Amino acid sequence: MENKRYYITTPIYYPSDKLHIGHTYCTVATDALARYKRLQGYDVMFLTGTDEHGQKIEDKAREAGVTPQEYVDAIVDGQGGVRDLWKLMDISNDRFIRTTDGYHVSAIQKIFKKMYDNGDIYKGTYKGKYCKPCESFWTESQLKDGKCPDCGREVQDAEEEAYFFRLSQYADKIQDLLENTDFLEPRSRVNEMVNNFIKPGLEDLCVSRTSFTWGVPVDFDPGHVVYVWIDALSNYITALGYDNDQYDDFGRFWPADVHIVGKEIVRFHSIIWPAMLMSLGLPLPKKVFGHGWLLLDGGKMSKSKGNVVDPYILAEMFGVDALRFFLMRTFPFGSDGNFSNELLIQTINTDLANDLGNLVSRTTAMVGKYFGGLLPAGCGASQDEGQLAAACARADGPVPFLTAQEPEKFDAELITLAAGLRDKYQADMDAYAPHKALEEVFAVIQRANKYIDENAPWALAKDMEANGGRLAHVLYNLLEATRICAILLIPFMPGSMDKLFAQIGAEAAVRTWDSAAAWGSLSDSAAPAKGENLFPRIDVDKALEELERREAEAKKAALPDVEVEPQLTEQVDFDTFCKSDFRAVKVKACENVKKSSKLLKFTLDDGTGTDRQILSGIAMYYKPQELVGKTLVAIVNLPPRKMMGQESCGMLISAVHKEKGEEKLHLIMVDDAIPAGAKLC
Ligand code: MSP
Repeated sequence: MENKRYYITTPIYYPSDKLHIGHTYCTVATDALARYKRLQGYDVMFLTGTDEHGQKIEDKAREAGVTPQEYVDAIVDGQGGVRDLWKLMDISNDRFIRTTDGYHVSAIQKIFKKMYDNGDIYKGTYKGKYCKPCESFWTESQLKDGKCPDCGREVQDAEEEAYFFRLSQYADKIQDLLENTDFLEPRSRVNEMVNNFIKPGLEDLCVSRTSFTWGVPVDFDPGHVVYVWIDALSNYITALGYDNDQYDDFGRFWPADVHIVGKEIVRFHSIIWPAMLMSLGLPLPKKVFGHGWLLLDGGKMSKSKGNVVDPYILAEMFGVDALRFFLMRTFPFGSDGNFSNELLIQTINTDLANDLGNLVSRTTAMVGKYFGGLLPAGCGASQDEGQLAAACARADGPVPFLTAQEPEKFDAELITLAAGLRDKYQADMDAYAPHKALEEVFAVIQRANKYIDENAPWALAKDMEANGGRLAHVLYNLLEATRICAILLIPFMPGSMDKLFAQIGAEAAVRTWDSAAAWGSLSDSAAPAKGENLFPRIDVDKALEELERREAEAKKAALPDVEVEPQLTEQVDFDTFCKSDFRAVKVKACENVKKSSKLLKFTLDDGTGTDRQILSGIAMYYKPQELVGKTLVAIVNLPPRKMMGQESCGMLISAVHKEKGEEKLHLIMVDDAIPAGAKLC
């Protein structure tokens, strides 16, 4: 019988900048859900990719002095790019689409034409604000203080020919879809969409642009490119082979089971996308789930705010699985969450190092210490009460918790909780609440740690003859509870769980979804072996310090090699310019100004026969003696100024720029053949 199929997607990312922890959150969550479905035996298609067209990319490429294609290639495929990040984060996507892929581009042209032919796309006039120098159209809301957001100049009312999609026509159907089905979750997002966008009146959507060229060309009307969201949303079907020959999976996987998206793009996925599919006569995806944002200091991360968190640094320092786990364990998936390094370290230390790590290392170490690494056959089976009572009677010294009933009570509690875990976990995962699923898993892990203390294996081990059977049974129960938890942690920490299974001696057959609900599946002759510490404890202060250092280093590396100040746009008239008197001056003497780390005092020959004194704040760039004899340039008709009690008559001219964020300064030195006092004009 063929497996049940499951199609899950992430948004495709804008490769306009390096991806940060917020993007990683979204992709890791989708990956965990995809792995969960695979664990259950589904035939999964997990799609991710990059959304590479649009004005923003065109502008960035221009700034960088490369073509848009070169620009996106570097961010997608280059070192440390999107693909590298997903590989590092152990993302198990089955397919990766780039909207610049040829098959996608031609499919978009066909999709656009289909909607044009069926009358849902029509040609109209786009009214907006136009900035002439920038050749850019803006909507009223994009303006900054009523002016062009790019250059700050006045804009004019203008009209442009454009294509429109009859979105308004689908308003009722979309409202019905949102309100009367569970198409969009969490439910709170439904009210937001209906109240903010549909009820005020859904307008037709402008779906072509002529103001830039980096997009899919409308093939029947040169000069127009397809609006990026039509291009981007369609990736979910073109990547399966819709309207192209690249793939042949449309029949197998469409409609999608779920599109996982961030809250700010829910509008596109729950209003525009279903309307497009209705227009194309295609079935709708079963669900759109809008997750929350990871915030930093209460605000959204963004490159322009300079507050993005680099997933590479975190993964390098704490491990990929620990980072994946933290993201899923800490933040309720549908809501916003405040990211902090302290929280990350605390979660790793508490859940992974203390709870899970200790459980595994204590249990495997005890199997090694008390049983030479192999539990006795039959230890998995429950012991009968008589045996237990006898064992208790022979217990070494007063061990009050070793009564005939209590061991069974402890066993029963642990076993009931662990054996019932999978179903609770499943309910949470199916409700897109991975944080709750993990809470359930950790409740069992914590229970297991408590079980160690309740049973005090070290006390049992004092009389192996009397208590060896019970001790073996206790350790078996611990291994078995760990095994079940580890299966359910596979979607979150796949690499570490492989290692953990090896440590507790769980073979492939008992790492399965089915076996997670079958207590007692682990062979009682399993051979656990204490291995490397899977989740070492982190020293908070040291780690925070190291993080700060690496973040500063990465920030510096990301700075442009050379940065110069933008040229002034305000013009100065010629007569004003001519009023500045620039002269060649020769350095007769130069010394540091006492008590100042910045100032150098120059004695200069300016051609007048009287020495001129100028103070300049450049002591960190030059040693005084290296400047003596040089011919420099000074402006000599500035009013004299006192600095550190000394008079400065004029200013030396230098060139300034930044290198990797560091200020650099070079005094302008001219040919020594130029006599002191020569006018520069
Ligand atoms: N290209 C569009 C998606 C097109 S899908 C047909 C896009 N790209 S994006 O790169 O800007 O964002 C991709 C995803 O990352 C979005 O779901 C967005 O919500 C998510 N995140 C970006 N920053 C985020 C946080 N700080 N926190 C959580 N997710 C965030 O939108």
